[in-house]
Amino acid sequence: MNLPVDDILVHLNEGLGQSVERLSQLLRIPSIGTDRAYQAQTLEAANWLVRELSEIGFEAGLRETPGQPAVVAHHPGPEGAPHILYYGHYDVQPAEPLDLWGSPPFEPAIVDGPAGKRIVARGAVDNKGQLMMFVEAFRAWKAVHGALPVGVTVFLEGEEESGSPSLDGFLEAHKHELQADVCVVSDTNMWDIDTPALGIMLRGLLYLELTLHGPSQDLHSGLYGGAVPNPLNILTRILGDLHDEQGRVQIPGFYDELEDLGELERDWQALDFDEASFLGHAGLSRSAGEAGFSTIARIWSRPTCDLNGIWGGYAGAGAKTVIPAKASAKLSCRLVPGQDAGRIKEGFRTFLDARMPEDCRYELEELGAGPAIKTSTNSPFLNAAEAALSDIFGRAPILVGMGGSIPAVGAIKQHLGIESILMGFGLDDDRVHAPNEKFELRCFLNGIRSHAALLGRLGKL
Ligand code: BES
Ligand code: MN
Repeated sequence: MNLPVDDILVHLNEGLGQSVERLSQLLRIPSIGTDRAYQAQTLEAANWLVRELSEIGFEAGLRETPGQPAVVAHHPGPEGAPHILYYGHYDVQPAEPLDLWGSPPFEPAIVDGPAGKRIVARGAVDNKGQLMMFVEAFRAWKAVHGALPVGVTVFLEGEEESGSPSLDGFLEAHKHELQADVCVVSDTNMWDIDTPALGIMLRGLLYLELTLHGPSQDLHSGLYGGAVPNPLNILTRILGDLHDEQGRVQIPGFYDELEDLGELERDWQALDFDEASFLGHAGLSRSAGEAGFSTIARIWSRPTCDLNGIWGGYAGAGAKTVIPAKASAKLSCRLVPGQDAGRIKEGFRTFLDARMPEDCRYELEELGAGPAIKTSTNSPFLNAAEAALSDIFGRAPILVGMGGSIPAVGAIKQHLGIESILMGFGLDDDRVHAPNEKFELRCFLNGIRSHAALLGRLGKL
């Protein structure tokens, strides 16, 4: 189909207020998928999206999973046109700590920032604002031309922020319904507010919870202290061993299977990365981590192992003298191509076994695992996305790596056999997963416009 995109872009500019209003409706629903207490609201967000997509002319419905339901919607395209799968997630991270928010997390606020107006709410960019960009682009195509230039299937999950536990089973069970030529995902960042980016590599993730058990119950720290193993002392000493002075991870075999990224690495090294502003968003001034690597390498192409939380014993008000019976920690390893989550976990067990005192034992639970993803850099679909972004921004997108993980991208490749285009419009300072998460309205509008342009480009393939 060869219909003009310009009319749609004008339509979108004029309709931005209504697009923001629709996004705000979705943001008002606290769909914290990981928390059972928000089960009803998570379902409400899924139903809201079903209604929204139905109103645009999609055949939309909920699909059961063992966890949160998925939204699936279909819209036919012209005979012979490509069929595109759009993936997003409607669940959001918990909003805590609530006292650090300037406005309530589920009452979206439009506030002024240095780049114009922005919308502040949990899920503003991750991922409600970004999934609404393609929904708004569909709406505009339908409003202006009464049709879509390609066939479209939308798949929105409600468990992304919980590590997508139902995803593999769901994709396997619905692989015919979700078949497409390529998948489009908007859940990543731009290079900067004026420069678009396409993700071509995402780090993988191994998320672990470790509990170390010592005495059979809590003990008086005077009566027993000094004569018994203290799980908190032992846990912190062992975890203190995780990195050497050079910042290298000490898990046996951790670096043994890293793929040589070759040209990709060299291209990334040549990028003019604004390190001062990247660190400045975090209130810092110097990059820390594995010695001998640039900041870009540290976040895109090197693997990590980070403590995410640690607890045990008494942390309440005042003093309580106690040797705890157990101590726990959560850890995330970001994986790069070549690393296998299962083998890294075994390496971590070897690391623990070598350091565990005789009277202690540990449990290791895996809370999520997925490999790093590399996408091909010269597919006609990626070229279409490059062209669409160039149309809208007047400059070509940068092909970037991403430090974060999107388990669905690997799972969609594995179960459906299709690659993803990672066309995201977030910024490094959007405070994803943190208080006062925001999305620049400029990014929101440019994202909708880019999706409209991409539909047009894909329709011509
Ligand atoms: N959208 C993020 C990942 C992301 C953020 C990619 C910023 C690029 C730039 C995604 O929703 C996310 O947070 N993923 C989790 C996955 C985990 C819960 C399995 C992550 O990376 O921690
Ligand atoms: Mn997220």
